[in-house]
Amino acid sequence: MNTVTSTNNLQSTQTDFLPLQGTDYVEFYVGNAKQAAHFYKTAFGFQSLAYAGPETGMKDKVSYVIRQNKLTFVLTTPLRTDNPIADHIYKHGDGVKVIALKVEDATSAFEETTNRGGKSYMEPTSLKDDTGEVVISGIHTYGDTVHLFIERKNYNGIFMPGFREWKTNYNPTSTGLLYVDHCVGNVGWNQMNPWVKFYEDVMGFRNILSFDDKDISTEYSALMSKVMSNGNGYVKFPINEPAEGKKKSQVEEYLDFYNGEGVQHVAIATADIVATVTELQKRGIEFLNIPPSYYETVLDRVGKIDEDLQPLQELGILIDRDDEGYLLQIFSKPLEDRPTLFFEIIQRKGAKSFGKGNFKALFEALEREQDARGNL
Ligand code: FE2
Repeated sequence: MNTVTSTNNLQSTQTDFLPLQGTDYVEFYVGNAKQAAHFYKTAFGFQSLAYAGPETGMKDKVSYVIRQNKLTFVLTTPLRTDNPIADHIYKHGDGVKVIALKVEDATSAFEETTNRGGKSYMEPTSLKDDTGEVVISGIHTYGDTVHLFIERKNYNGIFMPGFREWKTNYNPTSTGLLYVDHCVGNVGWNQMNPWVKFYEDVMGFRNILSFDDKDISTEYSALMSKVMSNGNGYVKFPINEPAEGKKKSQVEEYLDFYNGEGVQHVAIATADIVATVTELQKRGIEFLNIPPSYYETVLDRVGKIDEDLQPLQELGILIDRDDEGYLLQIFSKPLEDRPTLFFEIIQRKGAKSFGKGNFKALFEALEREQDARGNL
């Protein structure tokens, strides 16, 4: 086994040339942003925040911004065919385009990363309105995915210039989702290490955990993964690549259907996973089914936990422990018809790891779904 654990953060912020304050927002390019916004509000408990479209001077696209605690999603759809957003949707289906990172200085973030080999997506751009200024810059990452650097320290508006407040009487209650815990990318064969090097060299991240195909394989399919973290640990990007198995890797299925590399899952933190998942299931969100046998032995593996096992089993929540504590996690089925993007809901109780002890049960559950689609 090749697992390496390290908990040392960068010793000094002076050495961090790209200080990140966390995830600012995640932007999805979708075929129908109006309906997607309704889905995320209704099913996941987001609130309407802001809107941009022809009425606010945006002629070729519409964006809805929804928020729950520190979790902000932007849902964007093109209004015409001759449009790079339309091309993105034609190629990938609905998916994550932007992982936006909050920075103190978007100009410095752009210069530091592009000087280290990052490919420019957007040069530093100042957006102003009567409530202040937002500066945005951005670089490309795997596939057609991009990182935007968002500087909003001089802004007091609702989201950013070009958007207006989205007022509505439809405000479903929260499901307790708090913030992005991590965002996982699926990359192609032999592409994990080049992207690890990208995050190290261009963005100053470190590889904090590695899983080889012996860690992450079932009887049939396999993958490899390395977890990249920024200096303060606020931003974590695991990178997966497929590995050879008897049958097709789940990562390969993703790559086939997304038509390239992209975001596999967004993990969202909650402080009460039983309450959150109970509410999400009530609202129709489907999760991977975990066999009862998992729960017969799980406490032997993870030891004592605060929660009763019964509700965890009823909901299909997984448990894992590391040196620092334990975590509770669950994985949704894909959020669109293509077997591409899904969500993880995670509650950390000390553990800083990613649920290695659950990989086998989890991937067997994933494979049952993959098999039902005829893609195993
Ligand atoms: Fe995850």
